Amino acid sequence: MNNTQTDFVTQLETALKTRFLGRRALYFPELGSTNTSALQLAKEKVGEGTLIIADSQSAGRGQKDRQWYSPPGVNLYFSLILYPDLPITSLISLTLCIGTTLAGHLGRLSGKKIYLKWPNDLYVQGKKLGGILLEAAGSSCGKIQYLVAGIGLNINQPAHQFPLALQANATSLAIQTGHVFERTVLLAQILMELEKTYCLYLERGFSPFLSQFEPLDYLAGKTLQIKTAQGILEGRALGINSDGALLLQEAGNDHLLHKIVSGTICSF
Ligand code: BTN
Repeated sequence: MNNTQTDFVTQLETALKTRFLGRRALYFPELGSTNTSALQLAKEKVGEGTLIIADSQSAGRGQKDRQWYSPPGVNLYFSLILYPDLPITSLISLTLCIGTTLAGHLGRLSGKKIYLKWPNDLYVQGKKLGGILLEAAGSSCGKIQYLVAGIGLNINQPAHQFPLALQANATSLAIQTGHVFERTVLLAQILMELEKTYCLYLERGFSPFLSQFEPLDYLAGKTLQIKTAQGILEGRALGINSDGALLLQEAGNDHLLHKIVSGTICSF
């Protein structure tokens, strides 16, 4: 390990209070994508909760194969390897639990109201602060074999350093609060919160999180268009159901309620 790696891992270990999440941490100054590396490692049955973290990513990925802007020195890009005994259909509600936890913690820390745009985007003041990318391999009986939870958070990124194409829609905690955050300390706090969330989810499922999600629901009541496998649907978002599916009341047909488990929101 070089100095930067040792420093980051040592600082993280000093601040970390978790039982298993991030207890084994692999830090890279630069990586293609922490999710891609974590998926490879996950196949080799590394320990539950292994953390892959990079200071920058050259091929950071978002949902639907979008690029995730990942410059060095400012933000957090990390992936956690997990082996939950759950059906693959849990991914959507697990994504929402992680998002709810992040929105709650970062909201308390910054004093700003942070929203979760179903199912994986963190929003503050109408701009994107971060995102979650869950990727998993499933068995023939529909169970998760391994799971990678990738999280990208804009922490200390100054506004002028976002590429022009992102400036109107992206923000960071530092832009929102006017101060810089110590990334290792913040990561240790986030891992603690996520460990509690993961354990509660394994024990009790999604139900304890439903009421936490509700006040953070960025889409609630909004009219939106969403591209699904069945085509583009338009309607009003009415929250989520107990599985985490988005409820969409079809425009012009109040009696038709779609339960959407996967789709890309085109406009809202
Ligand atoms: C999204 O909002 O579309 C999800 C973004 C997820 C980005 C993170 S950064 C760490 C991890 N590695 C990746 O390549 N992607 C996720």
